[in-house]
Amino acid sequence: MTLDDIHTIAVIGAGDMGHGIAEVALLAGYPVRLYDINEEAVHHGVDRIFNSLDRMVKKGKVPVELAEQIKSQRLFSTTDLEEAVSKVDIVVEVVPEVLELKKQIFRKLDSLAPRHALLLSNTSTMSITEMGNMTGRPGQVLGTHFFNPPVIMKLVEVIRGDDTADEVVQLVTRWVEKLNKVPVPVKKDTPGFIVNRINAAPAVLFQVIVERCELEPEPLDAFMRTTGLPIGPCELTDYVGIDVMVNVGAYFAEKLHPNYGAPSHLIKMVETGKLGKKSGQGYYDWSNGRPRIDLSKATKEFNPQFPIFVQINEACKLIEEGICSVDDVDRAIVLGSGARVGPMQIGRTVAKLEMVNQLNFLASHYNMEIFKPTRTVLEGGYKH
Ligand SMILES: NC(=O)c1ccc[n+]([C@@H]2O[C@H](COP(=O)([O-])OP(=O)(O)OC[C@H]3O[C@@H](n4cnc5c(N)ncnc54)[C@H](O)[C@@H]3O)[C@@H](O)[C@H]2O)c1
Repeated sequence: MTLDDIHTIAVIGAGDMGHGIAEVALLAGYPVRLYDINEEAVHHGVDRIFNSLDRMVKKGKVPVELAEQIKSQRLFSTTDLEEAVSKVDIVVEVVPEVLELKKQIFRKLDSLAPRHALLLSNTSTMSITEMGNMTGRPGQVLGTHFFNPPVIMKLVEVIRGDDTADEVVQLVTRWVEKLNKVPVPVKKDTPGFIVNRINAAPAVLFQVIVERCELEPEPLDAFMRTTGLPIGPCELTDYVGIDVMVNVGAYFAEKLHPNYGAPSHLIKMVETGKLGKKSGQGYYDWSNGRPRIDLSKATKEFNPQFPIFVQINEACKLIEEGICSVDDVDRAIVLGSGARVGPMQIGRTVAKLEMVNQLNFLASHYNMEIFKPTRTVLEGGYKH
């Protein structure tokens, strides 16, 4: 199959990410077939696409004729999976982050989609290889990890499963460019890929600091905001969902190292229904909207280099394993998390002795093996 043979796209799951990915494909000129499990969910997804198009028309970003054409001719929605996928060239799976659910969906997609169709997953952490193994076409299965919101965020991590064919990786990379996005290759299937894996290390650090009551959430968040972050780590955890963070931690703990598992205060929050923004209560009270963080409470007892050092160390693990290049780390972090510069660029200005000493301190103080300096850090290789 070539780029010119890709005519129609199906998106499976019309939620936060699915409706956005459908909109990206529609804006790039593709007819899209949007599927969800019931009428309410699929209509909600369609409404969100229409509302977003209207907003873009108002801002002058999309011509009114194009928005009308998309609404009346390009978007088709359905609750019948066969109707959604039986005549398409690419299927993008965007259902909740539950591996067993995704595997079941891939098995169904394999039986319903045309033989030539490519089957893509928007998973943010999970194994593309395991999804591919549920199909009779693992060479045509790969990950396309869009960032939230897909219409705005430029990054798409393109993840090769163990059995994905080279030509499929190349084709999907070009297709992502045609969607006006920036593809960053993830050369091996690994939990969390690039951005979510590298950001997992500082998340573990912040969680253990709160778990040990070394800092309260508000002084920590306030301090991180003063370093230029738009949102502090605890507020971000609330925003993403405490349950999501606990599930991702459990997946990383199982696949990579137990240190990535969520600490007990987060697990207790889930058990008591405190899921963050979506339940109205997490670290903060969200019942009246976004919590007001008092920046005057910013702690003076935290070294802002710590989260960057553990990010660099985590990135070095990916580079050592041949998952991505140094430049791709920075490109992915800048495009995917809105940082001004990537961690590897910052790392070039940090002396090896300082980096090694601080990482050794964090590893022993918090009893976290995952913070121990990697071979590349010990050799100063992060500075190249
Ligand atoms: N939300 C984010 O910030 C974000 C960012 C990047 C990637 N992702 C990934 O995107 C995927 C979807 O996340 P989301 O935030 O859009 O979730 P969501 O809960 O907003 O949407 C999921 C949708 O899937 C539908 N669904 C449930 N079971 C289904 C089934 N069996 N078949 C078809 N549809 C089904 C739901 O009705 C819902 O509309 C996950 O893998 C997630 O990890 C999320």
